[in-house]
Amino acid sequence: MAKHKEIVMSGIRPTGFLHLGNYFGAIRNYIKMQEDFECYFMVADWHSLTTHPDTKELRGNVERVLAENIACGLDPDKAAFFCQSHVHETAELYLYLNMLAYKGELEKTVTFKDKVRQHPENVNAGLLTYPVLQAADIILHRAQYVPVGKDQEQHLEMARNFANRFNHRYGEVFPEPVAYNYNAELVKVPSLDGKGKMSKSENQMATLYLADEDDMIRKKVAKAKTDGGPTEMNSIKPDYIENIFALMKLVCTEDVIAKYEADYNNCTIRYGDLKKQLGEDMVKFIAPVREKINTILPDKNYLKQVMEQGAEKANKSAGETMKLVREAMGLKYF
Ligand code: TYM
Repeated sequence: MAKHKEIVMSGIRPTGFLHLGNYFGAIRNYIKMQEDFECYFMVADWHSLTTHPDTKELRGNVERVLAENIACGLDPDKAAFFCQSHVHETAELYLYLNMLAYKGELEKTVTFKDKVRQHPENVNAGLLTYPVLQAADIILHRAQYVPVGKDQEQHLEMARNFANRFNHRYGEVFPEPVAYNYNAELVKVPSLDGKGKMSKSENQMATLYLADEDDMIRKKVAKAKTDGGPTEMNSIKPDYIENIFALMKLVCTEDVIAKYEADYNNCTIRYGDLKKQLGEDMVKFIAPVREKINTILPDKNYLKQVMEQGAEKANKSAGETMKLVREAMGLKYF
């Protein structure tokens, strides 16, 4: 990896099967960016402990996230593809950044408030400082670009704040990281039930996973929420119909989308046909990825090798940054 390339960093939590939101929000960009940038992509296993303290399934989930990314086209020879817990310096930087992060701003984070609502019995300090750990992941490699979906926008804003505060107090070490997507707007892939976004662990029947079997994909799409169709020409689409069109734009051809847009506008749309078409196009997209996952996942030796190779690259970059950090902070006594 040539040193002059601009630096990219991103991560995914190993809390379940990856889905179309992870693909179109993040992984699709990883695959493009690995060609032109110095990339650090990570399985965020420490972050998963904030909500999933039971580690019995962690190894399997880590291996799955590795295999699923590689099946999508992530190339561990081009990017550093590693596990968060293999880069111990992350924890050191996290500690320093925690002194620059304020309780008030952390409590106002949308993802924190959501998690408090979902799991009132487990509001731990790690959950509160989740965005600080994420900022450490990113700036540890002095990354400028962070390919993520729309739900991560606020975390990136916080990472910029922490980086700036550090630079201001101790001297310029970090560039300002920005959320990145080639199509400019960050992506939010909606769920099939018209409520919220696709997610690893919630609303599983409304989420299309990269490992779903063909019949399961067809079944989920067939159940997507629709209605009797518009009764007035050129009417505004309700949210759940807008979502279905958004999903079509990910996998259907322009002709197909144009046909159903026209049918919608002149009130002849047949949602049964639309969903059949969308189901088949989703199967066409997901099936080859699923097949690759199924060949990569059983090869534990290969996955171990990927993690080792990734850890080596990430540790080298982390070591270089932390030397600058300690010097800037004056934490070098001999
Ligand atoms: P996580 O594991 O929830 O999601 C991984 C990536 O997938 C994107 N994503 C979506 N994009 C569009 N539509 C959706 N429905 C959708 N669902 C998920 C997310 O935006 C993300 O890009 N906090 C991070 C993990 C993380 C991280 C980092 C990310 C840890 N350290 C450093 C970037 C940089 C998270 O929970 O992602």
